[in-house]
Amino acid sequence: MSGYLVTDTRKVTTRRLREMKEAGVKIAMLTSYDYTTAKILDAAGVDCLLVGDSASNVMAGHATTLPITLDQMIYHAMCVSRGAKRAFVVCDMPFGSYQIDRTDALRNAVRIMKETGCDALKLEGGAAIADTIRSITQAGIPVVGHLGLTPQSIHQFGSYAVRAREEAEAQTLLNDVETLYQAGCCAIVLEKIPAALTAKAVKAVPIPMIGIGAGEADGQVLVVDDMLGKNNDFSPKFLRRYANLHEIMTDAVGRYIADVKEGSFPAAEESY
Ligand code: KIV
Repeated sequence: MSGYLVTDTRKVTTRRLREMKEAGVKIAMLTSYDYTTAKILDAAGVDCLLVGDSASNVMAGHATTLPITLDQMIYHAMCVSRGAKRAFVVCDMPFGSYQIDRTDALRNAVRIMKETGCDALKLEGGAAIADTIRSITQAGIPVVGHLGLTPQSIHQFGSYAVRAREEAEAQTLLNDVETLYQAGCCAIVLEKIPAALTAKAVKAVPIPMIGIGAGEADGQVLVVDDMLGKNNDFSPKFLRRYANLHEIMTDAVGRYIADVKEGSFPAAEESY
């Protein structure tokens, strides 16, 4: 059971993430949105917990990540930070909290750091937001970049198809990797791009590339509800399911309902 568990219990930091890349130790990241799940993932040895704005879909049932607010992200990040001892906790800056101007972005970044206890922020985009990222990293706040299929731009893309298949977009992405590194990013998430392009990005800079639907990288990230099979109507090619919580929960709830209805719960030993 414990063969896969991490024995290095030191807190994961920006420095440790770089060392992991240098040493060829893969980084395991999962999303998390609440205290109890964060505690389980952290104890199991996940290196990074991403308080993703996918909370907008997974927690709130929205069709995109756009509606989630700064206050809602702060609430989720606070809960996750309380549950994490070892993992490096990254909070997404939600749509609208960093695109307006640099001062507004920095104010919001500082607010998230102060109120949540997370370790870093994640922002979607390349050269267009490099100055914003620079002003946040220069304030001493670690930033994780996010390139490729950036869900906050879904209306501009028009679909969730793989990005950067064409040479021009692939070259722009590689330029963005370098730009984000120069702007001070401590890692970059690469979402839904060809594996061959990810391999080039991995070699281009010394900071870790964390892939999702991007082939082999320095690390991987998945949405926890998807990989645990809680959400059984989302099955992209890149998703590996490690459990079927949908089935397990439906079965458990079904048995509970039956016990209540037939009066076998609570039993005498479950009563005061
Ligand atoms: O919000 C999120 O869950 C993410 C991952 C898909 C990388 O950004």
